[in-house]
Amino acid sequence: MERRNFLKAACTFCAIAPMAGIMESCKKQAATGPNASFTIDLADPGYAALKTVGGSVVKSGIIVICTATDTYVALSDTCTHEGCQLNYNQQSNDLVCPCHGGTFDLNGKVLGGPPPSALKTYTVTQSGTTLTVK
Ligand code: FES
Repeated sequence: MERRNFLKAACTFCAIAPMAGIMESCKKQAATGPNASFTIDLADPGYAALKTVGGSVVKSGIIVICTATDTYVALSDTCTHEGCQLNYNQQSNDLVCPCHGGTFDLNGKVLGGPPPSALKTYTVTQSGTTLTVK
């Protein structure tokens, strides 16, 4: 290999290698979900959907779903494949990705499609009309 070609190849590698590292760290971030802790006041009309079984709200990148009376689950709303925002499907009781059809159950487990890993889940506790998600 000529010196000029070697230097050209080396410069190309040096330019691409850091980008590959950045993309890899983005994938890891999407797989972990947000670190968040917040409260929801069920008396607030903005969260009225959570008073109905099957109702859901999204806050701080986390979808909170009322699965039964006074029973809630909370999961990252970001698909672990390429980061699209998931939608809760009340009929099938799962989370569906609009981008490539990935599906997750309410424990965050991948049910189908290309997502490589489960969703991050959060604990939800209730005290009176206050839900604490963390
Ligand atoms: S981004 Fe969700 S399945 Fe591809």
